[in-house]
Amino acid sequence: MSGADGGSPGLPSRADPRGAQPLRRLLDDAGGTLVGDSRGGLVDELAQRYDGDLHIGLRPYRPTIVANFVETIDGVVAMTEDGQTGGGEVSGFSPTDRFVMGLLRALSDVVLVGASSIRTSRRAARTPGGVFPDAAAAFADLRSRLGLAPVPTTLVVTSSGDLDPTMPAFQERTAPIVIAGPSERMAELRAGAFGPNVTFEALRGSAATPDELVEIARGLGARVVTTEAGPRLFADLARAGLADELFLTLAPQLAGRDPAHPRLPLVDGEAFWPDSPRWARLTSVRSAGDHLFLRYRFEEQRA
Ligand SMILES: NC(=O)c1ccc[n+]([C@@H]2O[C@H](COP(=O)([O-])OP(=O)(O)OC[C@H]3O[C@@H](n4cnc5c(N)ncnc54)[C@H](OP(=O)(O)O)[C@@H]3O)[C@@H](O)[C@H]2O)c1
Repeated sequence: MSGADGGSPGLPSRADPRGAQPLRRLLDDAGGTLVGDSRGGLVDELAQRYDGDLHIGLRPYRPTIVANFVETIDGVVAMTEDGQTGGGEVSGFSPTDRFVMGLLRALSDVVLVGASSIRTSRRAARTPGGVFPDAAAAFADLRSRLGLAPVPTTLVVTSSGDLDPTMPAFQERTAPIVIAGPSERMAELRAGAFGPNVTFEALRGSAATPDELVEIARGLGARVVTTEAGPRLFADLARAGLADELFLTLAPQLAGRDPAHPRLPLVDGEAFWPDSPRWARLTSVRSAGDHLFLRYRFEEQRA
């Protein structure tokens, strides 16, 4: 995911001038993605752009959690050079990647992000149209047809509570935002001059556990959560068996790494193999130009 609504300002140096290239479906294994109820059903413009339909399986007792990342061929999801740490640098600012991100947001009740990305964003709210404006009307139609709120709620997690209402990200006051952090920090933020669209959730400790995140999302009525948070939080969710699906864009570049350029991998802070490997089923493959758009479903670990 490129994070266009949160990425580096200014003209990207390696932007793809061809705009969103059409996706081409190479594999779609509906049997691999659909278990019981599901949410989706793309028509017209979205089905055309996506080259087919998209359904997210719904879990009966907790929200389905879908992760969205873009990585380089060599598994890098973030560069570490100042001001160039967003997904855009990884994807080459791919508009097609942003379309897929918008589509996942359009099917979600909640979009989960870490506070650090909010601190560098122009806009805190992770809306479908915010990341891919060309399809904003089609995203809105889809949500209305599915009986969803006009835009998803953005759930921001923070341990530091280092957020304040004067940040650029909080100047737009229309879309719902929930900030979840340690209780004493939330009490301070609650007293701040945030807009009425921002509410607060006190965590039990200094950081949210994966189960607490599920509880908060469930409290918001969520059936589908897309996580756009970074590799640490993804690692926590995967460790807890709560990462159900991964939409992974593979960008056709090698980032490389050395001591001066450490880079971030897709999973950070957890080792699964060999004691507890996380195997996935490949359920969809699409291409657009030289980018690959992969969808994986992880073996069910938590009901
Ligand atoms: N390529 C991609 O698709 C992709 C996707 C996502 C991120 N990234 C990149 O990866 C890098 C790291 O991403 P990120 O900064 O979003 O990482 P992250 O690990 O998701 O978020 C980091 C921040 O979120 C808060 N946080 C995370 N887990 C928390 C928890 N369990 N409880 C409470 N607060 C929690 C903390 O905020 P406080 O500091 O306020 O305590 C933490 O500093 C960035 O460069 C980003 O651009 C790339």
